[in-house]
Amino acid sequence: MSLNYAKSLEAAIKYVEQLRSKGVKYLAVSRETLANLSSGPRKVNSEPQRTQSPSLTPVTSKAPPEANPVNPAPSASSSLFASEAPAKPIDAAAKAAAITDLRDRALVCQKCPHLVRSRKNVVFGVGDINSPLMFIGEAPGADEDIQGEPFVGKAGQLLTRIIQTMGFSRDTAYIANVLKCRPDTPGQTSGNRKPTLEEMKTCLPYLLAQIDLIKPKVIVALGATAMEGIFGRAVAITRERGRFQSFRDTPVMPTYHPSYLLRNQALSVKREVWEDMLQVLEKLNRPISDKQRSYFLKGT
Ligand code: URA
Ligand code: URA
Repeated sequence: MSLNYAKSLEAAIKYVEQLRSKGVKYLAVSRETLANLSSGPRKVNSEPQRTQSPSLTPVTSKAPPEANPVNPAPSASSSLFASEAPAKPIDAAAKAAAITDLRDRALVCQKCPHLVRSRKNVVFGVGDINSPLMFIGEAPGADEDIQGEPFVGKAGQLLTRIIQTMGFSRDTAYIANVLKCRPDTPGQTSGNRKPTLEEMKTCLPYLLAQIDLIKPKVIVALGATAMEGIFGRAVAITRERGRFQSFRDTPVMPTYHPSYLLRNQALSVKREVWEDMLQVLEKLNRPISDKQRSYFLKGT
């Protein structure tokens, strides 16, 4: 690490600690600063050294808003990541570049050494980064690990059919998982295991960045484990499915995982998932045909 970079980093850390000791809980960080921080020393060590980084700005309109009735809540267009200028929609090319950069970093991620050792591929995500519709599963299985693409095994084929029945395709929706590496199964030659909360928490920043860049209109969370990874709490999926929740200002529809549908062939369960998807289509203002409305109803 270069001396300049190390000094800048030390000064920035000191500054942030000072702020924290004053009770500052939220920092606004510009996109540029974030990009510099995440790209390491090479890109920033030629910058003039500063003892105090002006691009790390304490947020003065104290969040959460209800704690400070004098200051109005930040407007919907303001963001913690936009200190100098209000966030404006980044253009398509910049968005594609940011996703590529994120993918490149995920593909060489070493945060979970046990998964690095066992994985064949990091499974980042697939589909249209401008899609209004994003599906989130829990973690890659064996097939996904081999192909480097989410939901390509048996459960994936069922998910693909659900997506198509909704009038989308794998190319017009976006599909990702909470955990980007296949959970290892030491001593086993087959089978999968659930990702741990710890693994999902470690990997979550990649998913959060995907969501923030893609900005889907609706997210479908597939199964209890995906919900637990996203929201960081225990989830009873039979109780929570079918009702929208909000995550990072985006409606999330929890539903059953397609592998649960494969294990439980009851028409009533298929209909439940389908009703959840009909709600998603309504939220997206998509026209719904009579045929679509009546799938998996008894006698049809
Ligand atoms: N199950 C998941 O949750 N994700 C995949 O990618 C495949 C199966
Ligand atoms: N139980 C789960 O854990 N997931 C499902 O999708 C359905 C039942």
